[in-house]
Amino acid sequence: MIYLDNAATSFPKPKQSIQAMEECMLRYCGNPGRSGHDMSMKTGAGVFEARKAAANFIGADDPSTIVFTSNATDALNLAIKGTLHSGDHVITTSMEHNSVLRPLKALEQHGIGTTVVYGDAEGKINAQAVRSAIRPETAMIICTHASNVTGTILPVEDIGAIAQKHRLTYLVDASQSAGALRVNADELQADMIAMPGHKGLLGPLGTGILYIRPGRILDTIKEGGTGTNSRDLRQPVEAPERYESGTLNAPSIIGLGAAIRYVSSLKTVRAHETALIRRLEEKLRNMEPVILYGPENPEEKTGVTAFNIEGMDCEEVGDQLNRYGIAVRAGFHCAGLAHKTIGTSEIGCVRISVGPYNTAREMDAAAEAIWRICRNQK
Ligand code: ALA
Repeated sequence: MIYLDNAATSFPKPKQSIQAMEECMLRYCGNPGRSGHDMSMKTGAGVFEARKAAANFIGADDPSTIVFTSNATDALNLAIKGTLHSGDHVITTSMEHNSVLRPLKALEQHGIGTTVVYGDAEGKINAQAVRSAIRPETAMIICTHASNVTGTILPVEDIGAIAQKHRLTYLVDASQSAGALRVNADELQADMIAMPGHKGLLGPLGTGILYIRPGRILDTIKEGGTGTNSRDLRQPVEAPERYESGTLNAPSIIGLGAAIRYVSSLKTVRAHETALIRRLEEKLRNMEPVILYGPENPEEKTGVTAFNIEGMDCEEVGDQLNRYGIAVRAGFHCAGLAHKTIGTSEIGCVRISVGPYNTAREMDAAAEAIWRICRNQK
């Protein structure tokens, strides 16, 4: 199979990560931070190494700023629900995933209002429109680094500067950028950054990260055992324990740590993915029934091509590509407002998304399959 669904989860995973998980499961996996024996301690040390790798990755000095979660949705829910209170107002964008928009919708019933700033037809957001949406009661700005539908890169640094100037809490969703674009907490001026472990970071599914800037204490959305202060019924204040109740998915976190160290050593992921998308789209642009969405310039987006074939249902195109041995995601990508923004709210689209292991030859095979589907359609 030619795997072109890296925006859903990356595949394959680096052997360093798989070996680290296997070694943990086979040889020493105790419960980290709970017991004093060697196996528990070694597992705890492995989790700490992963925390350090994640902190280094985003340019944070302190590993305790890294909270491990089950996925980016979990991280975003903690960041959003741990920050906002009744009467607060939030600004976000139409290019967000439902993992931002649905928590915000749910918070409406608790008296928290949201303004959604819409992008243009390519999904581009104007930072000044975000600034104009600020009200006296605005508490937070939430912005995705890149759209999961079109790959459009949003002006996250400019919005960070606006948030900083107006002393607003700033949350960046780096789900579609971490591993491909530079994600640096200070450059973004972000108070929190949410990331999945299993996309561009090349780690296992079921892992996520929330970076929380030092000094910021969130309300918890779950409480329980942390392995610390067990006789105190109150949840600890210290991070990361405060937010990591219950036994951690230690083997996967250790695998994620190895994956992050590996990704951090790669210097050409962005250039490679941009070149692949440029090559694919040059071919698709010559196919008359193909409609492309998002920025025309691959430099303005991540490694994503969003398209439709005129007169064909996007799911049908996805099914036909699957029959050609090509894995893509078709439909609405858990991002209904992004589709509304680009004009596909009724029809959805097909999304091709590349990763570091894809090749130019695979782009040519995908283009050839799409050309055949177009031709058979006539
Ligand atoms: N959020 C992932 C995607 O965009 C699953 O496909």
